[in-house]
Amino acid sequence: RTVYVNGEFVPEEEAKISVFDRAFLMADGVYEVTSVLDGKLIDFPGHMARLHRSLNELKMKPARTDDELLAIHRELIARNDLESGMIYLQITRGAADRDFIWPTDAEPGIVLFTQAKEQVNAATAKTGLKVITVEDQRWARRDIKTVQLLFPSFAKMEAKAAGKDDAWLVTDGEVNEGTSNNAYIVKNDVIITRNLSNDILHGITRAAVLRFAREAQMKVEERAFTVEEAKAADEAFCTSASAFVTAIVEIDGATISAGEPGPIAARLREVYIDESR
Ligand code: PDD
Repeated sequence: RTVYVNGEFVPEEEAKISVFDRAFLMADGVYEVTSVLDGKLIDFPGHMARLHRSLNELKMKPARTDDELLAIHRELIARNDLESGMIYLQITRGAADRDFIWPTDAEPGIVLFTQAKEQVNAATAKTGLKVITVEDQRWARRDIKTVQLLFPSFAKMEAKAAGKDDAWLVTDGEVNEGTSNNAYIVKNDVIITRNLSNDILHGITRAAVLRFAREAQMKVEERAFTVEEAKAADEAFCTSASAFVTAIVEIDGATISAGEPGPIAARLREVYIDESR
């Protein structure tokens, strides 16, 4: 694989970053994951807008213009013959002697790489996912897409140890989101998903899916929902750049939608894929 590191395209085994990079020492970096379908980027401007928001919240510099970033994304797609998968982009505050006070003049670090993945015909599109719920122990600014991913990783390991696929992160009995996706339930044909705030990541796929749902005259409610409500829902699903729309068929052992992807989740997945092509 060819990767991009601080201005250069290099084979992954030759890529180097500083041991003093603050993303490595302090998780002082932000990232984006953009889907690639049929060799084309899905919703690149949306990902750039969120990247700027994350950078701004952390008082970090952008490192490259959006046009430069687009050119790097396209060059990586071409060099790696990527048809279906994702591009990961990380921008860090840069390298400096280890200190809790950050440097204001460090050169931002920038890393991009591709990950091939069959998305349209992913096995989970047919089977759906089983989730457990766990108390959300992340920090309180989940709207910023930082590389501080230890707790989501921990929660997903817990799900895996229980023989399940993912964890929904919960505060005071209410579902925030999945470990790396936004969470939804459907009750009496109403699509319910948590409203935007500092509690969740403002998903780019979420924005697209809610737009398509409203265009198709489906009812949408953006509000918090409880684990109890979710277990009694007609359907559940999640969205992300890597999962698109994927049904949830079990929550804490309770079967949802007879254990199969429900009709609304299936339809939204289809519409999302059609509209993204
Ligand atoms: N995760 N919530 C969290 C906590 C996430 O990490 C993500 C994305 C989402 C969905 O956002 P989007 O629709 O913009 O992908 C919601 C990416 C895919 C990841 O970390 O791999």
